[in-house]
Amino acid sequence: MLITVWPPIHTLIMAQMKKGKFKVPTLRNVAKTGPYLHNGLFDTLKEVVDFYNERDISSRWDKSEVSENVNTEELGDLKLSKNEVDAIVAFMKTLTDGHVLPAESASLGLLSAPLSSGKRL
Ligand code: HEM
Repeated sequence: MLITVWPPIHTLIMAQMKKGKFKVPTLRNVAKTGPYLHNGLFDTLKEVVDFYNERDISSRWDKSEVSENVNTEELGDLKLSKNEVDAIVAFMKTLTDGHVLPAESASLGLLSAPLSSGKRL
């Protein structure tokens, strides 16, 4: 007798493997795109790097909402010195280019003129 399982077992395994995971975001213009992380927990890049640096050895932060698949191999206890944290933050600030973010365009009035099509730039 053939027993079929729905959803297929590999779909369930894949879903379990993906729990709590997020796509790695671009760091282009990251100095201008806070608050950071999926829940907007951090206002500054320094807070993000402090979190990466000491997440697993400090009680400063709550436990992850979803504990499965937390990356403890590459993040969480980086042993970075204060100077190294500052250097990484300084590096991320160099990733700002001349791109005007949509929110900035609006505040500069750049989105105020509708095109003849009725669409806005
Ligand atoms: C020192 C090294 C790293 C720095 C400076 C760094 C920096 C950042 C920053 C600033 C963000 C927030 C971006 C935003 O919210 O717009 C971020 C998010 C993220 N990074 Fe990193 N990252 C580092 C290492 C890694 C590594 C090793 C991984 C994975 C192997 C990783 C995966 C992610 C993911 C998945 C997010 C999104 C997390 C969420 O939204 O909750 N990062 N990273």
